[in-house]
Amino acid sequence: MQTSFPSAPPADPAAVPPGDDAVGLLPPGAGRLAGKVALITGAGSVGPGWGNGRAMAALFAREGAQVFGLDRDAGRLEETARRVAEVGGTMESAGCDVTSGDAVAAAVAACLARFGRIDVLVNNVGGSARGGPVEMDEAVWDAQVDHNLKSVFLLCKHVLPQMERQAAEGGGAGGGSIVNISSTSGLRWTGAAQVAYAATKAGVIQFSRVLAVQYAARRIRSNTVVPGQLHTPMVEARLAGQRAGGDVDALLAQRQSRIPLPFMGDGRDTAHAALFLASDESRFVTGTEIVVDGGMSVRCG
Ligand SMILES: NC(=O)c1ccc[n+]([C@@H]2O[C@H](COP(=O)([O-])OP(=O)(O)OC[C@H]3O[C@@H](n4cnc5c(N)ncnc54)[C@H](O)[C@@H]3O)[C@@H](O)[C@H]2O)c1
Repeated sequence: MQTSFPSAPPADPAAVPPGDDAVGLLPPGAGRLAGKVALITGAGSVGPGWGNGRAMAALFAREGAQVFGLDRDAGRLEETARRVAEVGGTMESAGCDVTSGDAVAAAVAACLARFGRIDVLVNNVGGSARGGPVEMDEAVWDAQVDHNLKSVFLLCKHVLPQMERQAAEGGGAGGGSIVNISSTSGLRWTGAAQVAYAATKAGVIQFSRVLAVQYAARRIRSNTVVPGQLHTPMVEARLAGQRAGGDVDALLAQRQSRIPLPFMGDGRDTAHAALFLASDESRFVTGTEIVVDGGMSVRCG
């Protein structure tokens, strides 16, 4: 199993004119995010290994982005910083609970104080709670809405004005790219009743589409990556206890049985899709989704 991202040649921002219509294609070996600042929420992970936020931080840094990672638990950013350094990148970070408007405002200000701009926003924080409406406590429902949906609203609320300024200053060259992380649970039943997670992740997809249309004229794009059932550290740290009495192997087998491809992806698969949406390669792509699920959501039965 591959355990890391291979390093890329050093990026030369000057070699990659963003939005240069005459060039269109990136030169070989260029960092695909060279010259861009990427703000990523949940850039740590609940355990060792490739969570989605950690993988995006490392891959984006390898591709030349200056990464600003946020996490409620600053200690979880340490492994991310090490992985970023391994691929020759750097990451600045801040502790931030993305369900708090004041905390998000402060974190966005800190990113701007450090880098002066935000070209890419990745709304990655999220997670599930089990149960349907009868067995779920009202407080859990509210917390799920805050965790999975309000967090996206708050980051967009505080980052979009900066992207609009960039669009105006750049003479229409472009304001930025927002990449939201949803889940196949927002599209389909995926094996368990987790009604708040499903509803909020569906909400993320439509939130993203509305932004895409509202901000298209300012060349601010908004798209969603829809991961399926991955083997991320969350499986060991939380889900096995929630779903399989702590039996990790049983849970992994159950998840694999739903996936047509004969293996399970991890955070790096989410990261590769997010990289495309973050980069200028997707300059004509907005208001849509990339599903990363090994074929799970198109199989019936
Ligand atoms: N892991 C999967 O199989 C899977 C599948 C589909 C979708 N997703 C989605 O991918 C995203 C990331 O999932 P993951 O399993 O890689 O993440 P994770 O559970 O490992 O969490 C990533 C980080 O988010 C941080 N975090 C949690 N709440 C926060 C808050 N309020 N403010 C700031 N930071 C906070 C945690 O401290 C952690 O370091 C989520 O939106 C999740 O719903 C994951």
